[in-house]
Order: sequence, then C-alpha cells, then structure tokens
Amino acid sequence: MSGATQRWQVRATRPVAYDVVKAPALFAPHSDVLLGFGRPGGRRFVVLDANVMRFHGAAIRAWFAAHDIEARIVAVPGGEEHKTIDTWQDLARRLDAFPVHRRDEPVIAIGGGVLTDVVAFLAASYRRGLPHLKVPTTLMGYIDAALGIKAGINFNGHKNRLGSFTPPLAVLLDPGFLGTLPRRHLVNGVCEIVKLAVVCDAALFAALEADGAHGIATAFADAAGGAILDRAIGGMLDELAPNLHEEELSRRVDFGHTFSYGLEARHPQRLLHGEAVLLDVLVSVLIARRRGLLDETAAARVFALVERLGIVPDHGALDAGAMWQSLQDRVEHRNGLQRVPLPTGIGSCSFHHDITRGELDAALLALRDRLEARHEPAHER
Ligand SMILES: NC(=O)c1ccc[n+]([C@@H]2O[C@H](COP(=O)([O-])OP(=O)(O)OC[C@H]3O[C@@H](n4cnc5c(N)ncnc54)[C@H](O)[C@@H]3O)[C@@H](O)[C@H]2O)c1
Repeated sequence: MSGATQRWQVRATRPVAYDVVKAPALFAPHSDVLLGFGRPGGRRFVVLDANVMRFHGAAIRAWFAAHDIEARIVAVPGGEEHKTIDTWQDLARRLDAFPVHRRDEPVIAIGGGVLTDVVAFLAASYRRGLPHLKVPTTLMGYIDAALGIKAGINFNGHKNRLGSFTPPLAVLLDPGFLGTLPRRHLVNGVCEIVKLAVVCDAALFAALEADGAHGIATAFADAAGGAILDRAIGGMLDELAPNLHEEELSRRVDFGHTFSYGLEARHPQRLLHGEAVLLDVLVSVLIARRRGLLDETAAARVFALVERLGIVPDHGALDAGAMWQSLQDRVEHRNGLQRVPLPTGIGSCSFHHDITRGELDAALLALRDRLEARHEPAHER
C-alpha cells in the first residue's frame, strides 16, 4: 500500500436567482412590497445614505413603525471617500450590536452606488453571509450599481479592490428617490446610460438624443424619461445576467471602464464615477475613430449627444500617465489581456488587446482639441 494518490472531490453549484422589481412609492404607508421579503415583523438592520435620511428618513422610519418591524436605521455618508474599510467596519460593529436572524431578517441598503456596494459587502462577510435587499436612490444605482451582484470597497488606493460577488434577495426600484437627486448626480448616471447605448443599443442612443436632456431636467419622472430608464435597466441586465460572475472577461459593459479608474483615483475629489467613465468613453471613441473602426458620422453623433445632454466633460482632468497605468492594471484584472471594448458603430463594439501608449496620447490630444473647440467662448470661435 504505497504511492496511491488519494483524492476527494467536492462539487456543488448554487443557483443565483433574484428579482429586480419596480416599486414606486416603496415607503408610502400603503406599500406592502417590502413585506414580501423576510419574516413578518422581526428586526431589520437598515442602512441609509445620509442624504436619503435627510430627504426621506421620516417616511422610511414611519413605514417600519407602521408595520411593527423593529428597524435599526443607521445613516452613513455617500461619496467615494466613504467607500472604505472604515465604513464597512463601523457598520459591522453596529450590526453586531443589533442581532438579526441569519436567514430571514435581511439587511436593507437604501442609497447610492457607494452605499449599496459597501452594504452588500457587509452582508457578504458578516457571519459569512446575510441576505440583503438593495434600494438604489441615485440614477447610478438605479440603472447600474444596484442591479448586479458585485459588492465592494476601495482599498489601498484602488477602487473596489476588496469585494465579492454576492447576489441580493431582490433589488427594489423606486424612481421617486431620483426627485431629490442633484442635477450633477443625475448627469453622472446618464453617463453610464450613454456608455451602454454607444456599445450595445442604438435605440437607447436615439432615445437619449430625443428625450435625454428633458429626462435630466425632470429627473426622468415622465413617460419618456421612464422609458429611457427601463430600456437602460433591461439592457444592463441582458449584459450582466449571462455573465454574473465574470467568467467571460471581455465585457461590453466595461466600455468606459479602462482608463477611468486611473482618473478617479487621480482626482478623487474632482471626478464622479460617471464623469470619469464619460471621459474614457470619449477617448475610446477617438481611439476607435483613428483605427478606422468607427466612422466620423458615428463619432460626431456621440459628441453631439454629450453636448445636447448639456454635459461639459472635465477634460482638464485627463492625465495620460494615470490613464496608461490604469490600462496596465486592467490587464491584470482582465487576466493578462487588455480586452478593451471599442465602438464599431452606434450600438456595437469589438474587443482589442493592443492599444499603445502612442494611440492613447494621440486620442487625448484629439479629445482636448474637440472639447476646447466646442466650449471656448463664442467670440473666440
Ligand atoms: N456594483 C456595481 O456593479 C457598480 C456599478 C456601477 C457603479 N458602482 C459604484 O457606484 C458608486 C457611485 O455611485 P453613486 O454615483 O450613486 O454615488 P453615491 O452613492 O456616492 O451617491 C452620490 C451622492 O448622492 C447622494 N444621494 C443619494 N441618494 C440621494 C437622493 N435620493 N437624493 C439626494 N441625494 C442623494 C449621496 O449622499 C451622495 O452624495 C461608485 O463607487 C461605483 O464604483 C458599482
């Protein structure tokens, strides 16, 4: 009896299933949507973005009281600077002081992408996993951040360096929250819709051309605005659902997410996530243009849409070194290849692994030229 290799195999699969549910007036007294998740009554650990607390806290508190749910409602500030291990640890301590059942008293995250990412990571790690619900309150969360299963915090100067793939119990979408969102944050979310439209959905792009500016002005509250959001959500879920755990690393939704990480890290106080993504989108459009992947008509349409939406990209924040470094980091993240999506028309793209520093520099120069030509005072034109 010697030399025989012993081997035990462990194989298991765990299905992922959750619903993304439209739930207008989620915290109106008559609303019973939340009652469908977790045991009746009981306790709920509820984390609110501090601005959501300010605008909607009273209604949320009243709703839990009216339904005999003992809710521990804690507020944490939004903003990228709070997407930290300190916030995660602070929340873990507070949760530890308010014991909840491990299976049927879901943690509830109500806030923007920062908050839902941090709380989802808390739910992933506390007792190795508690169920959680996500209620996005920013446009970024509504059409993107809250829809998938990625949780995380920034760490060591890098975005989302610590995190997990953790499905929620459900995502509850109440568009009413968008009504208190400042314009800059509406535009921030729109940048992600533009991203999706350019590489995945020509009809969404056309809808943005027709109704996007009005949507921003009205917080997407009317039928045309709502149709844009519904199409963006459907398109995003179509991309995410077949590849939730990112087994496939060439992802169309990574358009705009190659150079932007470096810009966000370089300018943490200056650029919002969507603003950095839009700069990346425009640089990528110009790289595609120079490669002959995209014709001038399509490229000009992208720039015209940005202008029509009233967005003035912060091109002063462009930084070739940080963007090039960001691409190198993406190569690690994408397992050894650049896998950069570049548009091939409005609504389509292909993946590229050979972008050079010279191409990036040339695209940056061209972008500055285009944007400066558009935004210089009229009398100087
Ligand atoms: N998990 C994912 O797949 C995914 C996808 C996209 C983005 N993200 C992450 O999302 C984050 C950005 O999210 P964000 O733009 O929502 O930022 P955020 O969460 O910081 O919210 C932006 C601002 O809006 C305020 N706010 C939130 N809801 C409000 C409301 N209803 N009324 C008034 N003010 C309100 C917040 O206090 C904050 O000041 C980034 O960290 C990004 O990495 C994650």
